[in-house]
Amino acid sequence: MTDARLPATAVLDGRTALVTGAASGIGAATARLLHARGATVVLGDIDVDGAGALAAALGDGASAVRLDVADEAAWDQLVARWAPDGLDVLVHSAGIAQRAELASATLDDFRRIVDVNLVGTFLALRAAARAVGRGGAVVTVSSLRGVLATTGLGAYGASKFGVRALTRVAALELAERGVRCNSVCPGSIATDISSSKGFDVVDVDAYLRSIPMQRQGHPDEVARAIGFLVGDDASYVTGTDLLVDGGTAAGRTTPRLDRDETPDQRADRPTPTMR
Ligand SMILES: NC(=O)c1ccc[n+]([C@@H]2O[C@H](COP(=O)([O-])OP(=O)(O)OC[C@H]3O[C@@H](n4cnc5c(N)ncnc54)[C@H](O)[C@@H]3O)[C@@H](O)[C@H]2O)c1
Repeated sequence: MTDARLPATAVLDGRTALVTGAASGIGAATARLLHARGATVVLGDIDVDGAGALAAALGDGASAVRLDVADEAAWDQLVARWAPDGLDVLVHSAGIAQRAELASATLDDFRRIVDVNLVGTFLALRAAARAVGRGGAVVTVSSLRGVLATTGLGAYGASKFGVRALTRVAALELAERGVRCNSVCPGSIATDISSSKGFDVVDVDAYLRSIPMQRQGHPDEVARAIGFLVGDDASYVTGTDLLVDGGTAAGRTTPRLDRDETPDQRADRPTPTMR
């Protein structure tokens, strides 16, 4: 049942959407949102039990499929189900992360991350090129770390820079067919991947203070950005990256002056030594 308060341009009645990584986090929030807006949603995840539980909770118009996004044969099966024009929306959210500085990183870990995040995106976009019909829309989930290089996230960052590049290629190649392709670049979002599994941060307070909005995002806040990009409100938006990062990539914030300090006290501060 779609929300009657939504503008007609946000309603997805009659559209079929595949969401990858839909068992958890941003993918799950997106599957819920697209379903609430009237789409028939297929939840793809390697965690088919998690995807199945969410699909069952959503009820009519939701189903789950086991999908390893790095598995070419699994994508071919899905394409056979929908090609040439049976799919309207593809949101590719599945991804993994691991922290390792270059000196200690292993080639196996590098390949595993690139395989899921970047090869998975190639297969998703190729499937979209074969199965998404005119008027359709594709959103890939890149990252703030695919815009700003980050220590300890070489493999992850390289894969996420690549996600944006591939998505732009798809946007160019599919534009004439009337299929729009965009990326979202979330900053720190409170999901499993941002906890100890992936982005383990030692000083959480300092980390949160480094975000201009001083907090993590919620998966629903990314899902709503994705909902905009797949809906008709974004009818002339293709080949772009939408940052959903609380302002982090906008620039650097300078430290605030202590508001209780008098001008004289400020003038008394020692001048930092320049080297
Ligand atoms: N959470 C953040 O802070 C953040 C920030 C920027 C980008 N992202 C990106 O958002 C996307 C979603 O992450 P999330 O935060 O929701 O994490 P999450 O761990 O909650 O969800 C990821 C989902 O992907 C699934 N998955 C993992 N490998 C898979 C595979 N090979 N095939 C199919 N499914 C697979 C997992 O089972 C899980 O359900 C990822 O691409 C991630 O890189 C997350």
